[in-house]
Amino acid sequence: MNIELEVTNACNAKCLFCPHDLSAKRGVGFMTEETFTRLINITNPFDFQKFYFTGMGEPSLNELLPDFISKINGKHTVVTTNGTLGGDKVRLLKEAGLTEIFFSINYTDAHQSREIMGVDFERVKESISASISAGLRTSALVTISKLTRPQLREIYEWARNQGIENVYFCVGHSRGGHFQNESIIEAHPVISQTCAVIQWNLFVTWNGDILLCSSDLRGEYSYGNIMDNDMQYFLKLRSSQGTDNDLCRKCDCMFRYDSLTIKQILISNGVDASWLSWP
Ligand SMILES: C[S@@+](CC[C@H](N)C(=O)[O-])C[C@H]1O[C@@H](n2cnc3c(N)ncnc32)[C@H](O)[C@@H]1O
Ligand code: SF4
Ligand code: SF4
Repeated sequence: MNIELEVTNACNAKCLFCPHDLSAKRGVGFMTEETFTRLINITNPFDFQKFYFTGMGEPSLNELLPDFISKINGKHTVVTTNGTLGGDKVRLLKEAGLTEIFFSINYTDAHQSREIMGVDFERVKESISASISAGLRTSALVTISKLTRPQLREIYEWARNQGIENVYFCVGHSRGGHFQNESIIEAHPVISQTCAVIQWNLFVTWNGDILLCSSDLRGEYSYGNIMDNDMQYFLKLRSSQGTDNDLCRKCDCMFRYDSLTIKQILISNGVDASWLSWP
């Protein structure tokens, strides 16, 4: 199992396809040293292989991020970012021992980066270039929406031309029914009620709550807080978790399916089979 970690749900961007602001219902904040240390202490006895720093905000806004990464020994660590962090912070993350960085890219020029994500194109390019120069494994993450689908090839080529090694695509989804603007993201049929995310990911919010998954924007499906219980307790609850709830019934996130189905979904959404990088 992997840990998906939200070190903050604050954000400095304004992506047209992202309902991050709804997470303000559970308070906006930054993970503290104390909460992170508790998380490491209770996860240590278990075999968590990967730590994904993402969630409903911009992880690089938490100044403790390099410190947190330096405390995770021998595990695969991944930061997903909108790219506004800049070269100095990228180098700090590399020095702290970060394994991989995902840049969320949904544009090919300065006008689009401003309109679609509200980020500064030159700043993102500087961050990408610093990441590659520092020898970090550097990947791009493209969200397929009505804004990007007409130019998936161009975005793929732009990212590869920056020197980015892997370009991953994810079909934009409603986050369990929270985002319903069909002029930006179409609703996709729910193919089956299975969920691989429940099996592989444990989502921890900035204040230490463990939620059903990151689509639980308002924190309505909580297992409790890591300060109050140990990991055995959370894993036991998790093992009996099903998808018979309002969030999962409406969830059209491709990661709930198996890898073959994910590939078929991506191809039917306009991704060239030769670009596919997801396992
Ligand atoms: C919520 S962001 C958090 C990390 C960071 N702020 C960033 O944008 O990279 C994590 C990823 O979710 C993607 N995302 C946002 N809204 C989405 C949606 N409606 N469907 C699918 N992916 C989405 C973003 O593009 C980004 O790659
Ligand atoms: S996708 Fe990331 S950068 Fe964009 S608004 Fe959502 S959390 Fe912020
Ligand atoms: S089905 Fe969707 S909403 Fe439910 S746990 Fe899985 S990813 Fe989250």
